[in-house]
Amino acid sequence: MADPNLRGTPILRALPERTAPPTQQQPAAPGAYPRVRMRRNRAAAWSRGLAAENRLAVEDLIWPLFVQDDAGVTEVDSMPGVQRLGPDCLIDAVGAVAESGVSAIAVFPHVAPELKSRECEEAVNPENLVCQSVRSIKHAFPEIGVITDVALDPFNSLGQDGLLRDGVVVNDETVELLCRQAQVQAAAGSDYVAPSDMMDGRVGAIRETLDLEGLDEVGIIAYSAKYASAFYGPFRDAVGSAAALSGDKKTYQLDPANSDEAMREIALDLQEGADMVMVKPGLPYLDIVRRAKLTFGVPTLVYQVSGEYSMMKAAAERGWLDNDAIVMESLMAFKRAGADGILTYAAAEAAEILRRG
Ligand code: PBG
Repeated sequence: MADPNLRGTPILRALPERTAPPTQQQPAAPGAYPRVRMRRNRAAAWSRGLAAENRLAVEDLIWPLFVQDDAGVTEVDSMPGVQRLGPDCLIDAVGAVAESGVSAIAVFPHVAPELKSRECEEAVNPENLVCQSVRSIKHAFPEIGVITDVALDPFNSLGQDGLLRDGVVVNDETVELLCRQAQVQAAAGSDYVAPSDMMDGRVGAIRETLDLEGLDEVGIIAYSAKYASAFYGPFRDAVGSAAALSGDKKTYQLDPANSDEAMREIALDLQEGADMVMVKPGLPYLDIVRRAKLTFGVPTLVYQVSGEYSMMKAAAERGWLDNDAIVMESLMAFKRAGADGILTYAAAEAAEILRRG
């Protein structure tokens, strides 16, 4: 198989179901214990290294970054170690991460409450917090990848990803606004716009808008398999959309019970022009990552979301788990499942752990 992350499966299938233990009457079958001892390759660090099937590299990592209008930094209480960065702190923080070799950052805004509205006008303002942040990051670090989130929730006084009409998140009117949001982000210098809203038809509509505006080099990372998950709680604190949110997002995000439906979503987004696809959350949805990679063979990202990060930090803070070990093990699990890139709030610390070796 072409993808080294996915090798091994046919060999496993070829193994006999069960091997009888050797007895005096019955000599060991070739290919079985005691001739075969799986522990030989595990005996030394160098042979374990040779036998390693997957490797995590700093280039696999994408750092989600929260920005705010106010100067200085604000700690996100439910995400230990994560801060919202003001315009005065942004460039230093991005510089440190760019230096570490992390491939890209994904920008998420904490929008001031007075700028939020039911019609989400601020989302399409070319001078909004996202656009200004992208411009200053790209000006200082043209080489680092910049990804921007396309969805209305940070700008919506009702906290939903789309526009509400009679209490319902409406699809087509929302898509029109998402196209304009993607356009202002792309014009500001975003490399990839990443629709995370789960409206139908948005990838195709955004592609068409960007192409008409001469922004055909800007890519689309589609949050194709985005589940209606309870693991997004701390993120909604971080961007300040939790208090506003009325109801849940089950009329547009995927049901955690479903896997075939996720494949249909990915197929549609690819048909509409997505350059990369994403599965979200991460660890609870490793089967979806695996299936997506095997089925489509396209660049597949996974998002280790806020709640996953907070769980690791909570256990590590109590001394119940070893922080560095669980961070790296969880990231390796994504590689093993077939992910090409990983969005993780632990990107900077993982880069540092990789650097130390
Ligand atoms: C919103 C969006 C969400 C996340 C990324 N973009 C939250 C949601 O859908 O409510 C969650 C990321 C995380 O939890 O880390 N469009």
